[in-house]
Amino acid sequence: MKINLAQSVCINFNLGHLKHVSKINDGFSSDCYKFITDKSRYFVKIYPKDKLETVISTAKTELFFKKGNIPVLIRINNVEGNDHLVMGDKVFIVFPYIVIPKIKKWQKELYYEMGDFLGKMHGYSIKTSGENNLEIFKLRKTTLLPLRQMRLLLYKLHNKRITNRYSGLVISNLMTKIRYLKKILPEKFNLGGVALIHGDFHPGNLCIKDEKIKMIYDFDHSCRRSIYYELAKVIINTCFSGSFHDKNFIRTKYFLRGYQRHVNLKADTLRTAIKICHFGIFNSFWVEMKLVKKSVDKSLKVIIEKEKQTLDYFADPNNLNGFTERICNFLK
Ligand SMILES: Nc1ncnc2c1ncn2[C@@H]1O[C@H](COP(=O)(O)OP(=O)(O)O)[C@@H](O)[C@H]1O
Ligand SMILES: [Mg+2]
Repeated sequence: MKINLAQSVCINFNLGHLKHVSKINDGFSSDCYKFITDKSRYFVKIYPKDKLETVISTAKTELFFKKGNIPVLIRINNVEGNDHLVMGDKVFIVFPYIVIPKIKKWQKELYYEMGDFLGKMHGYSIKTSGENNLEIFKLRKTTLLPLRQMRLLLYKLHNKRITNRYSGLVISNLMTKIRYLKKILPEKFNLGGVALIHGDFHPGNLCIKDEKIKMIYDFDHSCRRSIYYELAKVIINTCFSGSFHDKNFIRTKYFLRGYQRHVNLKADTLRTAIKICHFGIFNSFWVEMKLVKKSVDKSLKVIIEKEKQTLDYFADPNNLNGFTERICNFLK
């Protein structure tokens, strides 16, 4: 990041005199920086200008959840009272910098805490939106474009227009996804509970201290979807995260205990949500895109390896049914 650009951000947001800038990460649609000034430390997120609408709408979502007493990390306003700054072809937003401790041990109590927190968010969101809003999920319609894009990516990889260390794994995952989705195209589902959701609820977007969630951030993927879809996504991606051992079913049991303090869950709803969510895993290919586009970092390698395990597991229909019933039994 150019130093004069960083200085302009400091002036515009009244952050004080800039002393040091360091890059935190390269996100998919944003880059994150740490600014140290003579006043304090700040977390600056930079988006391309075509993400302006998202940046504006996520600010509203952050305030919405804040109003429901959810501890959301809130942006700093600039000197003109705006929560973002457009400069050149970029959009800048600024947060106070917070220290996020690394979790040493993922104990079951922490899953209870996560379930409790997500349930609280969903309970509040559904209360303001009404419980009966339906999401209609048509597999054929949802998968048509991704299938075409995955085939194109596969074609490029096969023709060696793109090569890197992970091409083999990327090809194998894409082939599993295409093969699976082609088989089950005409399915259709209805799922209730459409409300505002975080959209990317996972430990990387939570500040956890002393086994309690102190703060939630990164609302870039927030949208109106079924809360049950988000619940299923967190179960599959966070409680299991690629490994389907007994230990992770116990974690899920605790997670659901926390969640059910706030949301009334029926087994049939959870069954449908898990099915839609498992399709979502076969249908998304952002990791593959990122792996072929950007320089590969270690965290991405871990994600694609875990994804492979999840795909292999769910490609067997017996596993999907067994998994779903075992989880639904925790509701009794
Ligand atoms: N306010 C903050 N202060 C310090 N670190 C932060 C802050 N917000 C986020 N982070 C760290 O930076 C990472 C990326 O930020 P995040 O907003 O989640 O962007 P991304 O869209 O790249 O996931 C987070 O996982 C977290 O570790
Ligand atoms: Mg994030």
